[in-house]
Amino acid sequence: MKGNDPIRRGVMGYPSEELSDPFAALEEAASRDTPSRRTLYIHIPFCRSRCLFCPFFLDTADEETFHNYARLLCRELESSADLLGRFPVNAVYFGGGTPTGLAAEDFSAVMRTLRSRYRLTNDCEITVEGRIDDLSSGKLDAYLESGVNRFSIGVQTFRTETRRLLGRRTSGTEIPALLNRVSARNEASVVVDLLYGLPGQTAEQWTEDLRILMEETRVSGVDFYHLKSRKHLPLENHLAAGRLPPLPSLDAAFAMFREALARMEECGAIRLSPMHFAFETRERNLNNSISAYKNVCLPFGMKAVGRLGGCRILQSADAGEYERLVMEDRKPLASVGMLPPDFPVSGELSGELYNRRSLNPGRIAAVAPERSGRIRESLERAIPKWVEAGYLLPARNGWFRMTELADFTHRPMATDLMEAAAEAWQ
Ligand SMILES: C[S@@+](CC[C@H](N)C(=O)[O-])C[C@H]1O[C@@H](n2cnc3c(N)ncnc32)[C@H](O)[C@@H]1O
Ligand code: SF4
Repeated sequence: MKGNDPIRRGVMGYPSEELSDPFAALEEAASRDTPSRRTLYIHIPFCRSRCLFCPFFLDTADEETFHNYARLLCRELESSADLLGRFPVNAVYFGGGTPTGLAAEDFSAVMRTLRSRYRLTNDCEITVEGRIDDLSSGKLDAYLESGVNRFSIGVQTFRTETRRLLGRRTSGTEIPALLNRVSARNEASVVVDLLYGLPGQTAEQWTEDLRILMEETRVSGVDFYHLKSRKHLPLENHLAAGRLPPLPSLDAAFAMFREALARMEECGAIRLSPMHFAFETRERNLNNSISAYKNVCLPFGMKAVGRLGGCRILQSADAGEYERLVMEDRKPLASVGMLPPDFPVSGELSGELYNRRSLNPGRIAAVAPERSGRIRESLERAIPKWVEAGYLLPARNGWFRMTELADFTHRPMATDLMEAAAEAWQ
């Protein structure tokens, strides 16, 4: 850990000790790879336009920029293949930004390199994230022919007025038909992101979004995200200046989440995580399911983050540096950090919260047999306050079930339990 590092253990972030030679560190990490399930992440940091609410935005890009970037990705994949291409990969995720901004030929070129130089398992999930209005039929053909078997589409809301306020161009009424056209190809799972707690959003508007999802679309699954505003987001300035109606209260947002849960229950949706539901078994949510356990993730592209052999890998977010390193056939690393020995235990904890919505201190402690007694004690000391606060319910055989409140917001609890487990190393 760096001196008095303020980074706390969490579902997303984790403290690590930056290593002085990241290139050598990556080679060493590759030699320590574990036979867990693995993901491969390709980051496409560009979007055609910016949405006010989005913390993932890096830059806008035209076709030329997407094209040059795809060329660099092919080269990065090619030159990293000797080091990273020998591990079987269970899920590939093109995330962003807006990967569907890649032209058909550029996307096909990236997939060709990937398939020829990396080992994708027979049941590998290959997801492309993006916008439905990007998927012209020619592009859809090319993506499907390259082997894409899952699209994760950010719908956010079907309400045109709210979409326009947030910077989305396509009208909400066009979206169900566009989604259904992709589903009708019967080649890929189509999952959508819906946001609740939007500026000025009422319970009725949210109910209407849920109605449209269930009655007008034939998608394979849905993720419900609570819109969070943060400093430095354009959303925050617009709200502060009164250019947008205020966000619903936390209680109102929780009520919206519960309404979504009730809707999922009544239609018999299959629950795959606190906020992800499948409407058919084609949808597996494999990438997120594996990632939640903080397993190996091989990162490619600018600003991509990954994990390998007990290290956290961060790729350069600087376009010039990214290009220079790729053209020198070096991995475009910004840093490689050694993760602490408690990391696998936190991985198990985070994976269980995401995938099972349940946890069992004995099962989590068993990940580190040499300290299991102390980890279990620490967790058993920390858990009662989360039971009392209404996040966990004791169940049979040492299990604790997450409540609806924990499904809505479990990050503070996850951080607290991870910090507690880490005490076993002090
Ligand atoms: C990396 S974004 C990519 C989305 C895709 N490019 C699009 O335009 O829809 C993934 C998802 O994060 C969610 N998201 C973005 N900003 C958010 C915020 N401020 N709070 C909660 N979820 C957010 C959105 O639902 C979005 O679909
Ligand atoms: S929601 Fe998608 S298109 Fe909008 S800024 Fe974020 S990543 Fe870009």
